[in-house]
Amino acid sequence: MLWPFGVGAAFLVSGTYARSNGSYNGSDLDAPMLAGGPRGGPGAMLRFGCSQAVIERLDPLVNPDLNPSAHMHQIVGGNAFNASMPLEDISQLATCTTCHFTQDFSNYWTANLYFKARNGTYKRVPQMANQFNDGDAGGITIYYTSPGTNATTAFKPGFRMLTGDAMRRTSENLGKNMQQCYRCFSEPNFGGSMYSPCFDPKWDTDHLPKQPCPGGIRSNIIFPLCWDGKSLDSPDHREHIAHPVGGPPSFSIVTGTCPESHPVKIPQVMLEVNWDTRSFNDEIEWPEDGSQPFVLSTGDDTGYGQHGDYVFGWQDDSLQLAMDSQCYLRNCSLLPSQMPPDKNKCSVPVTAPENIDGWMDTLPGVDMETSAYTP
Ligand SMILES: *[C@@H]1O[C@H](CO)[C@@H](O)[C@H](O)[C@H]1NC(C)=O
Ligand SMILES: *[C@@H]1O[C@H](CO)[C@@H](O)[C@H](O)[C@H]1NC(C)=O
Ligand SMILES: *[C@@H]1O[C@H](CO)[C@@H](O)[C@H](O)[C@H]1NC(C)=O
Ligand SMILES: *[C@@H]1O[C@H](CO)[C@@H](O)[C@H](O)[C@H]1NC(C)=O
Ligand SMILES: *[C@@H]1O[C@H](CO)[C@@H](O)[C@H](O)[C@H]1NC(C)=O
Ligand SMILES: *[C@@H]1O[C@H](CO)[C@@H](O)[C@H](O)[C@H]1NC(C)=O
Repeated sequence: MLWPFGVGAAFLVSGTYARSNGSYNGSDLDAPMLAGGPRGGPGAMLRFGCSQAVIERLDPLVNPDLNPSAHMHQIVGGNAFNASMPLEDISQLATCTTCHFTQDFSNYWTANLYFKARNGTYKRVPQMANQFNDGDAGGITIYYTSPGTNATTAFKPGFRMLTGDAMRRTSENLGKNMQQCYRCFSEPNFGGSMYSPCFDPKWDTDHLPKQPCPGGIRSNIIFPLCWDGKSLDSPDHREHIAHPVGGPPSFSIVTGTCPESHPVKIPQVMLEVNWDTRSFNDEIEWPEDGSQPFVLSTGDDTGYGQHGDYVFGWQDDSLQLAMDSQCYLRNCSLLPSQMPPDKNKCSVPVTAPENIDGWMDTLPGVDMETSAYTP
């Protein structure tokens, strides 16, 4: 069927279930999600939260060994994350993870978001738990999809990739190279159809929203689903992966023909981040010229430069098994899991210490003259 996960995905915004406000009351987290109905197809779609592991200026992919790195990131996943991550099996190095599934020691990271007040100073915008992820300490919601049994090849130990372009400040010539978008929420965790984030022009924009978002701003970042079948990495961390020849399919379809250069279909990874802008919506504090006040940690006030980094770290063949076993959302009896109070205990020690939460005159590491978009 055309929408293998459509039936399941629709209920995520049906509005009949209590929405997460960040608290965890000890109930079965899976219940409200699974109550929405069964998956509509033969494939797998994991959806689970990973709490904050650390917020710091490190980037082992783009700036290996550099401490501090060029701009701030928010990082989730296993505690083997550090300034330098050679091609190793990090599931053997990590001892805990902030992710729901305890065999997932992968690391995932994105740029942070900041509010620029009218007086020119910046404050970090906190993240909030996603819908049905009550109790998560901020972090990222992770999706892995596969269209059917044995339809995708899970990543190998050491595999890493990057999607998006931190330097981009325009939609010009976006082509097939990037899939990322924003959604403006009217109330926390509610913002219209959940179908195909990044492909619904009614709800999604490829740039930061220009109006206040009473329920926060969601950022989605979708990784390519074709791989060259050989390289664990490439010089720009992108060349070894590719979108299908017809361009990226809408999220959760996970289909399309891979190019000859990248013939192996991999699970599609999507990151979802909810920024809690609620305390920054007073337009008295917004720039006098009416422009929107949010800026990524790269200095990007357009949002086009959002990007996601991934270092694979699932233990043994656990991800492959999950992809081939019709796992749906968090319903995956093969995979051991942990509840928020436990995953929130895992963290990565800060090795690039600096002020991350006060009002600051400049964004850490960023030259605003060269980073901001000048139309
Ligand atoms: C806990 O939260 C769930 C989902 O929001 C709700 O269905 C349940 O009634 C709550 N349980 C208690 C004891 O408050
Ligand atoms: C979240 O919702 C629960 C149940 O409605 C409530 O008891 C709690 O105070 C709320 N927490 C926050 C931070 O709003
Ligand atoms: C990061 O961890 C790896 C693997 O344990 C180690 O080889 C490397 O030296 C560490 N790097 C730093 C900067 O701590
Ligand atoms: C700038 O504005 C923010 C928001 O109103 C305020 O909290 C902060 O103290 C101001 N900083 C300075 C240096 O005036
Ligand atoms: C998937 O691959 C496994 C291992 O090769 C095989 O045993 C199984 O029959 C395959 N399942 C399907 C539905 O092709
Ligand atoms: C969880 O998945 C299993 C295996 O696919 C399925 O039999 C079961 O009905 C699912 N549970 C719920 C509550 O959807």
